[in-house]
Amino acid sequence: MHLFDADGDAYLDMLSGLGVNSLGHCHPSIVSAIERQSRGLIHTSNLYWTQPAERLARELTRQSFADSVFFCNSGAEANEAAIKLARAHAFGRGSRSREIVVLERAFHGRTMGALSATPQEDKQAPFAPLVHGFKTAPHDDAAQLSALVTGDTCAVMIEPVQGEGGVFAVPDDVLVAAREACNEVGALLIFDEVQCGLGRTGSLFAYQQTPVVPDVVTLAKALGGGLPIGATLIAEQFAGALQPGFHGSTFGGNPVATAAALAALGEISKPETLADAREVGDYLMSRLESFGQLRGRGLMIGLELDEDYDARAIVNALLDKHRVLVNATGPHTLRFLPPLIATTDHVDELCLALARELES
Ligand SMILES: Cc1ncc(COP(=O)(O)O)c(C=O)c1O
Repeated sequence: MHLFDADGDAYLDMLSGLGVNSLGHCHPSIVSAIERQSRGLIHTSNLYWTQPAERLARELTRQSFADSVFFCNSGAEANEAAIKLARAHAFGRGSRSREIVVLERAFHGRTMGALSATPQEDKQAPFAPLVHGFKTAPHDDAAQLSALVTGDTCAVMIEPVQGEGGVFAVPDDVLVAAREACNEVGALLIFDEVQCGLGRTGSLFAYQQTPVVPDVVTLAKALGGGLPIGATLIAEQFAGALQPGFHGSTFGGNPVATAAALAALGEISKPETLADAREVGDYLMSRLESFGQLRGRGLMIGLELDEDYDARAIVNALLDKHRVLVNATGPHTLRFLPPLIATTDHVDELCLALARELES
C-alpha cells in the first residue's frame, strides 16, 4: 500500500499508479510470476504461440462473454484494435457504415484513433485533423444516443464508469439504449474497461453490474499488475472481422507481461478480493460523504468539492504534508483509486488527512 521516497519516507498510495497497482506494489504472486517467466522466455514476437499468452486468453474468455482476445501493450492500443475491429466488421459485410458514437467527457487514450474517440477540446485541438467518423452523444440522454446511431454506425464506444472525465457512472438506461440501437443496425457495442474493469468497481468486469453485455471489452492498466499490457476481448460473432495481417503488435502477448497478468487476474478475480473492494469502497464513500458530492462505484470514486477548494492544491498538500497519494480530474474534483487490498484503516488515514487539509 506504500511507496517510499529517496529518504525512505512512506506514502500511502490511494491512486494505484492511476488504477494499475490494484494489488498494491510488488505483490508476491506477480513478483514470482515475473521472476519465473523471465528465466524461461522473455520474447518471441506474436508469430508464435506461447503458453502464458494462451493461458491468459483462456482465462479472460472463461471469465467473460468473450471468445477471442487480442493482446497489445496499453489501453489506447486496446481501443485502437476495437475501433479497427468495428470498421473491419462493417467492411467485411460490404457495409459502408464507418461511424463510431462516443459519449461526451469520454477518455479513450492518446493515439490518433483513441484521441479522436475522446471528445475533449483541450486534448484534441493540438493534433487536428483527427480521424474522421466519430460522433458525440450526451452521457446521460438515452434518446439522443439512440438517434445518433444510424445505418452509418459501426460501433458505440462507452466507458461504463467514465474515469478521466471526472468519475461518472453512465446511467443504465443509456447503456440499454446503446445495446438496443447497436442490435438494430448491426453495430458493435464496445465497453472501454481500461480503468473501470478488473475489480475496480467491485465486480471483475464493470459490465457485470450493468443490465447489458457488450460485444467488445478493452482492458489494460490493472491487467499486467504493473507491466504494460492491453487486451481487446471480442465476442465470437465479431472475432473473424480481424483477419491475420489486418492488425498486429510486435510486443503484444509478450510472455513476461502475460505471465504477470495471469497472476494479477488470478488474485483480482478471487471472490474475497472483489468482496473487499465492494466493502471498503462503501466504507470510503460513507467516510467521504461529508466532504462534498460523491460519484463512482466500488473503489473508483470522484469527490466534487465546493468551488472554494482548489483540488490540485489539495492533492499537492496531501502529498507533501500528509504523504498520501490521490489525484485531481478537474479544478474541484478529487479522484480516489485505492488498491483493491486497501483496508478501512487506510481509508481512515486518508480521510483524517483530507479533513485536516480541507479545514486548513
Ligand atoms: C478509460 C481509459 N481508456 C483508455 C486509456 C488509455 O490507456 P493507456 O494510457 O494505457 O494508453 C485510459 C487511461 O487513463 C483510460 O482511463
